[in-house]
Amino acid sequence: MKNSTAMVQSSPTKESLCQFMKNHAVDFTFLSLLFIGLLYIFIFVPSNNRPLFSFPKPQCHPSTMFNMTIYTDELNKVLDETSMPNKTLIIAIVNKAYVEGDKPMLDLFMDGFWLGEETRALKDHLLIVAVDQTAYQRCTFLQLHCYKLETDGVDFVGEKIYMSDDFIKMMWRRTLFLGDVLKRGYNFIFTDTDVLWLRNPFSRLSPNETLDLQISTDLFNGNESSEANHINTGFYMIRSNTKTIALFDAWYAKKDNSTGMKEQDVLETLMHDGAFRGLGLGVRFLDTRYFSGFCENSKDVGAVVTVHANCCRSINAKVADLTTVVHDWKRARGSRANETTAFEWSKHEACTDSWKN
Ligand SMILES: *[C@@H]1O[C@H](CO)[C@@H](O)[C@H](O)[C@H]1NC(C)=O
Ligand SMILES: *[C@@H]1O[C@H](CO)[C@@H](O)[C@H](O)[C@H]1NC(C)=O
Ligand SMILES: *[C@@H]1O[C@H](CO)[C@@H](O)[C@H](O)[C@H]1NC(C)=O
Ligand SMILES: *[C@@H]1O[C@H](CO)[C@@H](O)[C@H](O)[C@H]1NC(C)=O
Ligand SMILES: *[C@@H]1O[C@H](CO)[C@@H](O)[C@H](O)[C@H]1NC(C)=O
Ligand SMILES: *[C@@H]1O[C@H](CO)[C@@H](O)[C@H](O)[C@H]1NC(C)=O
Repeated sequence: MKNSTAMVQSSPTKESLCQFMKNHAVDFTFLSLLFIGLLYIFIFVPSNNRPLFSFPKPQCHPSTMFNMTIYTDELNKVLDETSMPNKTLIIAIVNKAYVEGDKPMLDLFMDGFWLGEETRALKDHLLIVAVDQTAYQRCTFLQLHCYKLETDGVDFVGEKIYMSDDFIKMMWRRTLFLGDVLKRGYNFIFTDTDVLWLRNPFSRLSPNETLDLQISTDLFNGNESSEANHINTGFYMIRSNTKTIALFDAWYAKKDNSTGMKEQDVLETLMHDGAFRGLGLGVRFLDTRYFSGFCENSKDVGAVVTVHANCCRSINAKVADLTTVVHDWKRARGSRANETTAFEWSKHEACTDSWKN
Protein backbone atom coordinates (compact mmCIF):
# COMPACT_ATOMS: atom_id res chain seq x y z
CA MET A 1 0.00 0.00 0.00
CA LYS A 2 2.68 2.43 0.97
CA ASN A 3 4.64 1.53 -2.15
CA SER A 4 1.81 2.23 -4.57
CA THR A 5 1.11 5.61 -3.01
CA ALA A 6 4.69 6.51 -3.52
CA MET A 7 4.48 5.39 -7.16
CA VAL A 8 1.52 7.62 -7.83
CA GLN A 9 3.11 10.60 -6.23
CA SER A 10 6.44 10.31 -7.93
CA SER A 11 5.23 9.52 -11.48
CA PRO A 12 3.49 12.42 -13.25
CA THR A 13 -0.15 11.96 -14.19
CA LYS A 14 -1.13 12.61 -17.78
CA GLU A 15 -2.38 16.03 -16.89
CA SER A 16 0.75 17.17 -15.10
CA LEU A 17 2.94 15.73 -17.84
CA CYS A 18 1.12 17.88 -20.32
CA GLN A 19 1.64 20.95 -18.15
CA PHE A 20 5.31 20.07 -17.83
CA MET A 21 5.75 19.93 -21.60
CA LYS A 22 4.03 23.27 -22.04
CA ASN A 23 6.16 25.01 -19.42
CA HIS A 24 9.33 23.72 -20.95
CA ALA A 25 8.30 24.71 -24.41
CA VAL A 26 7.91 28.23 -23.08
CA ASP A 27 11.25 27.94 -21.32
CA PHE A 28 12.85 26.77 -24.50
CA THR A 29 11.55 29.68 -26.52
CA PHE A 30 12.65 32.09 -23.84
CA LEU A 31 16.10 30.57 -23.59
CA SER A 32 16.58 30.63 -27.35
CA LEU A 33 15.74 34.31 -27.46
CA LEU A 34 18.06 35.00 -24.54
CA PHE A 35 20.86 33.08 -26.22
CA ILE A 36 20.46 34.93 -29.51
CA GLY A 37 20.35 38.21 -27.63
CA LEU A 38 23.55 37.44 -25.79
CA LEU A 39 25.26 36.27 -28.94
CA TYR A 40 24.35 39.56 -30.56
CA ILE A 41 25.73 41.53 -27.62
CA PHE A 42 29.00 39.67 -27.56
CA ILE A 43 29.57 39.74 -31.30
CA PHE A 44 28.39 43.19 -32.27
CA VAL A 45 28.79 45.39 -29.23
CA PRO A 46 32.36 46.52 -28.47
CA SER A 47 33.57 44.94 -25.27
CA ASN A 48 33.70 48.12 -23.21
CA ASN A 49 30.05 48.91 -24.02
CA ARG A 50 28.53 45.58 -23.04
CA PRO A 51 25.57 46.36 -20.85
CA LEU A 52 24.93 43.14 -18.99
CA PHE A 53 28.11 41.56 -17.86
CA SER A 54 31.53 42.72 -16.99
CA PHE A 55 33.98 39.99 -16.27
CA PRO A 56 36.62 40.63 -13.63
CA LYS A 57 39.99 41.15 -15.22
CA PRO A 58 42.32 38.21 -14.63
CA GLN A 59 44.82 39.04 -11.90
CA CYS A 60 48.19 39.68 -13.47
CA HIS A 61 49.03 36.01 -13.84
CA PRO A 62 51.39 35.65 -16.76
CA SER A 63 49.02 33.16 -18.37
CA THR A 64 46.05 31.19 -17.21
CA MET A 65 45.06 28.03 -19.05
CA PHE A 66 42.45 25.54 -18.03
CA ASN A 67 42.34 26.97 -14.53
CA MET A 68 46.04 26.34 -14.14
CA THR A 69 48.34 29.25 -13.49
CA ILE A 70 51.61 29.03 -15.29
CA TYR A 71 54.29 31.24 -13.83
CA THR A 72 57.14 32.57 -15.88
CA ASP A 73 59.51 31.96 -13.00
CA GLU A 74 59.83 30.81 -9.41
CA LEU A 75 59.83 34.34 -7.99
CA ASN A 76 56.40 35.16 -9.45
CA LYS A 77 55.12 31.95 -7.95
CA VAL A 78 56.33 32.63 -4.38
CA LEU A 79 55.23 36.27 -4.55
CA ASP A 80 51.75 35.17 -5.58
CA GLU A 81 51.58 32.50 -2.89
CA THR A 82 52.84 34.78 -0.12
CA SER A 83 51.05 38.05 -0.82
CA MET A 84 47.69 39.23 0.48
CA PRO A 85 44.84 39.70 -2.01
CA ASN A 86 46.00 43.32 -2.53
CA LYS A 87 49.45 42.12 -3.62
CA THR A 88 51.18 43.15 -0.41
CA LEU A 89 53.69 41.00 1.43
CA ILE A 90 56.50 41.10 3.98
CA ILE A 91 60.05 40.43 2.83
CA ALA A 92 63.15 39.57 4.87
CA ILE A 93 66.55 38.54 3.53
CA VAL A 94 68.82 36.08 5.34
CA ASN A 95 72.18 34.43 4.89
CA LYS A 96 73.88 31.58 6.70
CA ALA A 97 75.04 33.77 9.58
CA TYR A 98 71.39 34.50 10.41
CA VAL A 99 70.38 30.85 10.72
CA GLU A 100 73.28 29.63 12.86
CA GLY A 101 74.35 29.92 16.49
CA ASP A 102 72.83 28.88 19.81
CA LYS A 103 69.88 31.05 18.97
CA PRO A 104 69.82 31.95 15.30
CA MET A 105 68.65 35.45 14.45
CA LEU A 106 65.95 34.08 12.15
CA ASP A 107 64.50 32.04 15.03
CA LEU A 108 64.48 35.07 17.30
CA PHE A 109 62.80 37.05 14.52
CA MET A 110 60.07 34.38 14.28
CA ASP A 111 59.68 34.44 18.09
CA GLY A 112 58.57 38.04 17.67
CA PHE A 113 55.65 36.95 15.49
CA TRP A 114 54.72 34.34 18.11
CA LEU A 115 54.95 36.68 21.11
CA GLY A 116 53.61 39.82 19.48
CA GLU A 117 50.06 41.10 19.49
CA GLU A 118 48.12 40.04 16.40
CA THR A 119 51.30 39.14 14.58
CA ARG A 120 50.95 35.35 14.26
CA ALA A 121 48.82 35.40 11.12
CA LEU A 122 51.36 37.65 9.40
CA LYS A 123 53.67 34.64 9.08
CA ASP A 124 51.54 33.52 6.11
CA HIS A 125 52.53 36.67 4.25
CA LEU A 126 56.22 36.62 5.12
CA LEU A 127 58.68 35.73 2.40
CA ILE A 128 62.19 34.74 3.48
CA VAL A 129 64.74 35.39 0.76
CA ALA A 130 67.80 33.21 1.29
CA VAL A 131 71.08 34.20 -0.32
CA ASP A 132 72.78 30.86 0.30
CA GLN A 133 71.87 27.18 0.51
CA THR A 134 72.08 26.83 4.32
CA ALA A 135 69.75 29.76 4.86
CA TYR A 136 67.37 28.31 2.29
CA GLN A 137 67.34 24.91 3.96
CA ARG A 138 66.73 26.42 7.37
CA CYS A 139 63.85 28.44 5.93
CA THR A 140 62.14 25.41 4.39
CA PHE A 141 62.72 23.48 7.64
CA LEU A 142 60.82 26.22 9.50
CA GLN A 143 58.04 25.81 6.89
CA LEU A 144 58.06 29.43 5.85
CA HIS A 145 57.65 30.87 2.37
CA CYS A 146 61.19 30.72 1.00
CA TYR A 147 62.96 31.95 -2.09
CA LYS A 148 66.56 31.27 -3.02
CA LEU A 149 68.19 34.37 -4.49
CA GLU A 150 70.99 33.37 -6.84
CA THR A 151 73.93 35.67 -7.32
CA ASP A 152 76.65 34.73 -9.75
CA GLY A 153 80.12 34.41 -8.36
CA VAL A 154 79.45 35.94 -4.96
CA ASP A 155 79.64 34.22 -1.62
CA PHE A 156 77.24 35.64 0.91
CA VAL A 157 77.68 32.82 3.40
CA GLY A 158 79.55 34.30 6.35
CA GLU A 159 78.67 37.08 8.73
CA LYS A 160 79.05 40.36 6.96
CA ILE A 161 80.81 42.70 9.31
CA TYR A 162 79.27 46.12 9.17
CA MET A 163 80.63 48.10 6.19
CA SER A 164 82.98 45.36 4.96
CA ASP A 165 83.13 44.99 1.15
CA ASP A 166 80.93 41.89 1.23
CA PHE A 167 78.43 43.64 3.50
CA ILE A 168 78.09 46.43 0.97
CA LYS A 169 77.84 44.01 -1.95
CA MET A 170 75.07 42.11 -0.22
CA MET A 171 73.20 45.34 0.49
CA TRP A 172 73.29 46.28 -3.18
CA ARG A 173 72.10 42.85 -4.25
CA ARG A 174 69.19 43.38 -1.91
CA THR A 175 68.34 46.76 -3.48
CA LEU A 176 68.38 45.21 -6.96
CA PHE A 177 66.15 42.35 -5.85
CA LEU A 178 63.61 44.58 -4.09
CA GLY A 179 63.42 46.85 -7.14
CA ASP A 180 62.60 43.74 -9.16
CA VAL A 181 59.76 42.88 -6.75
CA LEU A 182 58.32 46.39 -7.23
CA LYS A 183 58.52 45.96 -11.01
CA ARG A 184 56.50 42.77 -10.67
CA GLY A 185 53.71 44.83 -9.11
CA TYR A 186 54.01 43.88 -5.45
CA ASN A 187 53.85 46.25 -2.48
CA PHE A 188 55.85 45.13 0.49
CA ILE A 189 57.15 45.76 3.95
CA PHE A 190 60.85 45.16 3.95
CA THR A 191 62.18 44.13 7.33
CA ASP A 192 65.62 43.18 8.53
CA THR A 193 65.55 40.03 10.66
CA ASP A 194 67.03 41.93 13.60
CA VAL A 195 63.68 43.68 13.97
CA LEU A 196 61.28 42.24 16.53
CA TRP A 197 57.65 42.60 15.47
CA LEU A 198 55.73 43.08 18.71
CA ARG A 199 52.50 44.39 17.20
CA ASN A 200 50.90 44.24 13.78
CA PRO A 201 52.46 47.16 11.88
CA PHE A 202 49.64 47.51 9.37
CA SER A 203 47.57 49.19 12.08
CA ARG A 204 50.22 51.95 12.42
CA LEU A 205 51.14 52.29 8.75
CA SER A 206 48.89 54.68 6.92
CA PRO A 207 46.63 53.11 4.29
CA ASN A 208 46.60 56.43 2.42
CA GLU A 209 47.51 55.66 -1.18
CA THR A 210 49.32 58.96 -1.58
CA LEU A 211 52.07 57.55 0.64
CA ASP A 212 54.50 55.65 -1.55
CA LEU A 213 57.12 55.05 1.11
CA GLN A 214 56.85 54.85 4.90
CA ILE A 215 60.29 54.40 6.33
CA SER A 216 61.70 53.91 9.82
CA THR A 217 64.14 56.36 11.36
CA ASP A 218 67.12 55.98 13.67
CA LEU A 219 66.17 59.18 15.46
CA PHE A 220 62.79 60.79 14.97
CA ASN A 221 62.70 64.59 14.97
CA GLY A 222 58.98 64.84 15.64
CA ASN A 223 57.93 65.66 12.07
CA GLU A 224 56.66 62.83 9.86
CA SER A 225 57.31 64.88 6.69
CA SER A 226 60.77 66.14 7.53
CA GLU A 227 63.68 64.97 5.40
CA ALA A 228 65.96 65.94 8.26
CA ASN A 229 65.07 62.58 9.86
CA HIS A 230 67.77 59.90 9.72
CA ILE A 231 66.22 57.11 7.70
CA ASN A 232 66.82 53.44 8.36
CA THR A 233 66.30 51.00 5.48
CA GLY A 234 65.90 48.10 7.93
CA PHE A 235 62.14 48.59 8.00
CA TYR A 236 59.88 50.28 5.50
CA MET A 237 56.68 49.85 3.56
CA ILE A 238 56.65 50.69 -0.11
CA ARG A 239 53.97 50.64 -2.79
CA SER A 240 54.65 49.44 -6.28
CA ASN A 241 54.21 52.25 -8.81
CA THR A 242 56.20 54.14 -11.44
CA LYS A 243 57.56 56.58 -8.85
CA THR A 244 58.91 53.95 -6.49
CA ILE A 245 60.33 51.92 -9.38
CA ALA A 246 62.13 55.04 -10.60
CA LEU A 247 63.46 55.60 -7.09
CA PHE A 248 64.91 52.09 -6.91
CA ASP A 249 66.46 52.50 -10.36
CA ALA A 250 68.06 55.79 -9.35
CA TRP A 251 69.22 54.24 -6.10
CA TYR A 252 70.80 51.19 -7.71
CA ALA A 253 72.40 53.31 -10.43
CA LYS A 254 74.61 54.82 -7.70
CA LYS A 255 76.13 51.44 -6.86
CA ASP A 256 79.45 51.89 -8.63
CA ASN A 257 79.85 55.53 -7.74
CA SER A 258 79.37 55.37 -4.00
CA THR A 259 82.60 53.90 -2.70
CA GLY A 260 82.61 53.41 1.04
CA MET A 261 78.92 54.18 1.37
CA LYS A 262 76.28 51.64 2.21
CA GLU A 263 73.03 51.68 0.26
CA GLN A 264 71.19 53.36 3.14
CA ASP A 265 73.59 56.32 3.04
CA VAL A 266 73.16 56.48 -0.72
CA LEU A 267 69.39 56.68 -0.34
CA GLU A 268 69.77 59.38 2.28
CA THR A 269 72.06 61.33 -0.06
CA LEU A 270 69.51 60.95 -2.86
CA MET A 271 66.86 62.27 -0.51
CA HIS A 272 68.96 65.30 0.46
CA ASP A 273 69.65 65.94 -3.22
CA GLY A 274 65.89 66.27 -3.67
CA ALA A 275 65.17 62.92 -5.35
CA PHE A 276 62.01 62.26 -3.33
CA ARG A 277 60.50 65.63 -4.23
CA GLY A 278 61.77 65.33 -7.81
CA LEU A 279 59.89 62.07 -8.26
CA GLY A 280 56.82 63.43 -6.49
CA LEU A 281 57.14 60.62 -3.98
CA GLY A 282 54.84 60.63 -0.96
CA VAL A 283 57.09 59.79 1.98
CA ARG A 284 56.32 59.42 5.65
CA PHE A 285 59.03 59.11 8.27
CA LEU A 286 58.00 56.73 11.02
CA ASP A 287 57.93 57.77 14.66
CA THR A 288 60.22 55.76 16.95
CA ARG A 289 57.37 55.70 19.46
CA TYR A 290 55.98 52.91 17.23
CA PHE A 291 58.86 51.82 15.00
CA SER A 292 61.74 51.90 17.42
CA GLY A 293 65.27 50.63 17.77
CA PHE A 294 68.37 50.65 19.90
CA CYS A 295 69.39 54.07 18.52
CA GLU A 296 66.21 55.47 20.06
CA ASN A 297 63.97 53.40 22.33
CA SER A 298 60.22 53.66 22.02
CA LYS A 299 58.83 55.93 24.70
CA ASP A 300 55.65 53.88 24.92
CA VAL A 301 55.73 50.13 25.44
CA GLY A 302 51.94 50.22 25.26
CA ALA A 303 52.13 51.28 21.60
CA VAL A 304 55.48 50.02 20.33
CA VAL A 305 55.25 48.03 17.11
CA THR A 306 58.82 47.08 16.20
CA VAL A 307 62.21 47.09 17.91
CA HIS A 308 65.21 47.13 15.60
CA ALA A 309 68.70 46.19 16.79
CA ASN A 310 70.17 49.20 14.99
CA CYS A 311 73.20 51.09 16.25
CA CYS A 312 74.79 47.69 16.80
CA ARG A 313 77.75 46.09 15.11
CA SER A 314 77.64 42.29 15.38
CA ILE A 315 75.05 39.56 15.17
CA ASN A 316 75.98 38.11 18.59
CA ALA A 317 75.45 41.46 20.27
CA LYS A 318 72.13 41.92 18.47
CA VAL A 319 70.90 38.49 19.51
CA ALA A 320 71.90 39.10 23.13
CA ASP A 321 70.18 42.48 23.34
CA LEU A 322 67.08 41.45 21.38
CA THR A 323 66.69 38.53 23.78
CA THR A 324 66.62 41.10 26.57
CA VAL A 325 63.95 42.98 24.62
CA VAL A 326 61.87 39.80 24.53
CA HIS A 327 62.20 39.57 28.33
CA ASP A 328 61.25 43.25 28.66
CA TRP A 329 58.23 42.66 26.44
CA LYS A 330 57.04 39.70 28.51
CA ARG A 331 57.51 41.74 31.68
CA ALA A 332 55.54 44.67 30.22
CA ARG A 333 52.70 42.47 29.05
CA GLY A 334 52.48 40.75 32.40
CA SER A 335 52.09 44.01 34.25
CA ARG A 336 48.97 46.09 34.76
CA ALA A 337 48.24 49.09 32.59
CA ASN A 338 49.02 51.51 35.44
CA GLU A 339 52.47 49.94 35.73
CA THR A 340 53.56 50.25 32.09
CA THR A 341 53.85 54.00 32.56
CA ALA A 342 56.80 53.23 34.86
CA PHE A 343 58.25 50.73 32.34
CA GLU A 344 61.83 51.20 31.16
CA TRP A 345 63.72 49.24 28.54
CA SER A 346 66.83 47.42 29.71
CA LYS A 347 70.16 48.84 28.51
CA HIS A 348 71.51 47.47 25.23
CA GLU A 349 74.83 46.55 26.74
CA ALA A 350 76.11 44.03 24.23
CA CYS A 351 75.43 46.44 21.38
CA THR A 352 77.10 49.33 23.15
CA ASP A 353 80.14 47.10 23.69
CA SER A 354 80.11 45.88 20.06
CA TRP A 355 81.69 49.18 18.93
CA LYS A 356 84.58 48.99 21.39
CA ASN A 357 87.16 46.99 19.46
C1 LIG B 1 39.81 26.42 -10.37
O1 LIG B 1 40.44 27.37 -9.52
C2 LIG B 1 39.67 27.72 -8.40
C3 LIG B 1 40.38 28.84 -7.66
O2 LIG B 1 41.76 28.60 -7.55
C4 LIG B 1 39.44 26.47 -7.53
O3 LIG B 1 38.68 26.83 -6.39
C5 LIG B 1 38.74 25.42 -8.35
O4 LIG B 1 38.60 24.24 -7.57
C6 LIG B 1 39.50 25.10 -9.61
N1 LIG B 1 38.73 24.20 -10.45
C7 LIG B 1 39.25 23.14 -11.04
C8 LIG B 1 38.34 22.33 -11.90
O5 LIG B 1 40.44 22.83 -10.91
C1 LIG C 1 46.73 45.33 2.00
O1 LIG C 1 45.81 44.76 2.90
C2 LIG C 1 46.21 44.83 4.25
C3 LIG C 1 45.22 44.05 5.06
O2 LIG C 1 43.93 44.45 4.80
C4 LIG C 1 46.30 46.30 4.65
O3 LIG C 1 46.62 46.41 6.02
C5 LIG C 1 47.37 46.96 3.81
O4 LIG C 1 47.45 48.32 4.12
C6 LIG C 1 47.05 46.79 2.33
N1 LIG C 1 48.18 47.22 1.55
C7 LIG C 1 48.14 48.21 0.70
C8 LIG C 1 49.41 48.54 -0.02
O5 LIG C 1 47.12 48.84 0.49
C1 LIG D 1 45.76 61.12 1.95
O1 LIG D 1 46.80 62.07 2.03
C2 LIG D 1 46.55 63.24 1.26
C3 LIG D 1 47.80 64.09 1.28
O2 LIG D 1 48.29 64.23 2.57
C4 LIG D 1 45.33 63.95 1.79
O3 LIG D 1 45.07 65.09 1.03
C5 LIG D 1 44.14 63.00 1.73
O4 LIG D 1 43.03 63.61 2.34
C6 LIG D 1 44.44 61.70 2.45
N1 LIG D 1 43.38 60.74 2.21
C7 LIG D 1 42.79 60.09 3.19
C8 LIG D 1 41.73 59.13 2.78
O5 LIG D 1 43.09 60.24 4.37
C1 LIG E 1 57.53 69.30 8.81
O1 LIG E 1 58.40 69.23 7.72
C2 LIG E 1 57.88 69.74 6.50
C3 LIG E 1 58.89 69.45 5.41
O2 LIG E 1 60.16 69.89 5.78
C4 LIG E 1 57.58 71.22 6.67
O3 LIG E 1 57.02 71.73 5.47
C5 LIG E 1 56.60 71.39 7.82
O4 LIG E 1 56.40 72.78 8.06
C6 LIG E 1 57.13 70.75 9.07
N1 LIG E 1 56.08 70.77 10.09
C7 LIG E 1 56.31 71.26 11.30
C8 LIG E 1 55.15 71.20 12.23
O5 LIG E 1 57.37 71.72 11.65
C1 LIG F 1 80.24 59.97 -9.77
O1 LIG F 1 79.94 61.05 -8.87
C2 LIG F 1 80.61 62.25 -9.15
C3 LIG F 1 80.24 63.29 -8.08
O2 LIG F 1 79.76 62.69 -6.94
C4 LIG F 1 80.25 62.77 -10.54
O3 LIG F 1 80.97 63.93 -10.83
C5 LIG F 1 80.53 61.67 -11.56
O4 LIG F 1 80.08 62.09 -12.84
C6 LIG F 1 79.86 60.34 -11.18
N1 LIG F 1 80.25 59.31 -12.12
C7 LIG F 1 79.39 58.48 -12.68
C8 LIG F 1 79.93 57.43 -13.57
O5 LIG F 1 78.19 58.57 -12.48
C1 LIG G 1 47.87 49.34 39.86
O1 LIG G 1 46.47 49.07 40.07
C2 LIG G 1 46.20 48.02 40.98
C3 LIG G 1 44.72 47.81 41.06
O2 LIG G 1 44.09 48.24 39.93
C4 LIG G 1 46.79 48.41 42.36
O3 LIG G 1 46.56 47.34 43.28
C5 LIG G 1 48.27 48.68 42.22
O4 LIG G 1 48.78 49.13 43.47
C6 LIG G 1 48.54 49.73 41.16
N1 LIG G 1 49.98 49.87 40.98
C7 LIG G 1 50.59 51.04 40.94
C8 LIG G 1 52.06 51.01 40.71
O5 LIG G 1 50.00 52.09 41.07
